[in-house]
Amino acid sequence: MHNASPRPLSAAKSEALTGRARVPGDKSISHRALMFGGLAAGETRITGLLEGEDVLRTGEAMRAMGARIEKQGQEWIAVGTGNGALLQPKDALDFGNAGTGVRLTMGLVGSYDMETRFVGDASLSKRPMGRVLDPLREMGLQVVSAEAGDRLPITLRGPKHAAPISYRVPMPSAQVKSAVLLAALNVPGVTTVIEPVATRDHTEKMLAGFGASLEVETDADGVRHIRIEGQPKLTGQTIAVPGDPSSAAFPLVAAVLVPGSDVVIENMLMNPTRTGLVTTLLEMGADITILERRNEGGEDVADLRVRGSELKGVTVPAERAPSMIDEYPVLAVAASFAEGETRMPGLEELRVKESDRLSAVAEGLKANGVDCVEGEASLSVTGRPGGRGLGGGTVSTHLDHRIAMSFLVMGLAAEKPVTIDDQAMIATSFPDFTDLMRRLGARIG
Ligand code: S3P
Repeated sequence: MHNASPRPLSAAKSEALTGRARVPGDKSISHRALMFGGLAAGETRITGLLEGEDVLRTGEAMRAMGARIEKQGQEWIAVGTGNGALLQPKDALDFGNAGTGVRLTMGLVGSYDMETRFVGDASLSKRPMGRVLDPLREMGLQVVSAEAGDRLPITLRGPKHAAPISYRVPMPSAQVKSAVLLAALNVPGVTTVIEPVATRDHTEKMLAGFGASLEVETDADGVRHIRIEGQPKLTGQTIAVPGDPSSAAFPLVAAVLVPGSDVVIENMLMNPTRTGLVTTLLEMGADITILERRNEGGEDVADLRVRGSELKGVTVPAERAPSMIDEYPVLAVAASFAEGETRMPGLEELRVKESDRLSAVAEGLKANGVDCVEGEASLSVTGRPGGRGLGGGTVSTHLDHRIAMSFLVMGLAAEKPVTIDDQAMIATSFPDFTDLMRRLGARIG
């Protein structure tokens, strides 16, 4: 489908959005559920799995390495190979658009004495893989072949005897942290990952749930030291995947921006490493009420009631970026409707997402009449309350699902419609997006 001709889509100014919405399962947790379930001995039963293309490719990769994964009714069942017992895949593992899938799997196989080839789509083939290969090389990994700058296609061969390392993650990246922790599963001794800036902690929490022995200590400077004991026995678990805050962000911001809206988003993950957008929208004056906070399967979840609101510009602290890294495109859209300026520093990681998200967002905002300034690692947006004069442009999505959905949200509140050049990538993370938004009253078509 990635080579099919582009399918544009437009969103137009809508009446108040109303109703209840259940967003799909969290993408980060879904990838890990299939990976760890495909590795652990015995059966893992998963409900609420995100059935997006990215996650399904991770399932395919685990199957290619010996796991049994299938859907039975509403549940996904994985029967793992047992830790340390993955098989060499016969063909290249194709991760499509999925950075998390490819980077975590590189970690997983990086300590196996076998050869694995990784390929992906045009977007994934532009993204840097050196950030995960560097620590894996320290453990003994050999990069048999790679395109310039450690880009896909890449063939890896793990060492006969991998060595544990202590690794300080140089950028705030849960993918890099996770790749090292997953490699450590097949290495004798204790591997330590030092994380100066905390990022999403799903790998640590879920591995502990599967039986890994893992210790996390935060020192006086707030630096996390994660120690994992190699070669643990991992055992199948029952997992209920909560709703993805990064997907909830779209109906949430849409309901804030469209006057008179009143929407409840059900069962959203409230892990504090993921809720930076909600914090920021509340600071901007959004009317969001957190209902029914509860713990399910080790994670906090809640229902969020969101009503149409008038926003004011704020400065988003740079240290909040890891807890909302995927939400900046839609925050920039919200800022386009706020009174005054919204400043977003600390965005260097946005340049290496599914697209160069910083420039893709700035380009899309400008095409729709928004005043914004793109810095090296920052964005500042001056809003127009009521969306006066906004819209009317076509946005290049650059094979990036979050750019696509963010600008459709803009169209729902702007004076003139907003068009995206291609809707195909939405299916990587949120296959039901258009139907869900239409059910709330969004004019998308
Ligand atoms: C993810 C980590 C983040 C995020 C991505 C999912 C994960 O990437 O952007 O969508 O599941 O670990 P980085 O680790 O590159 O920040």
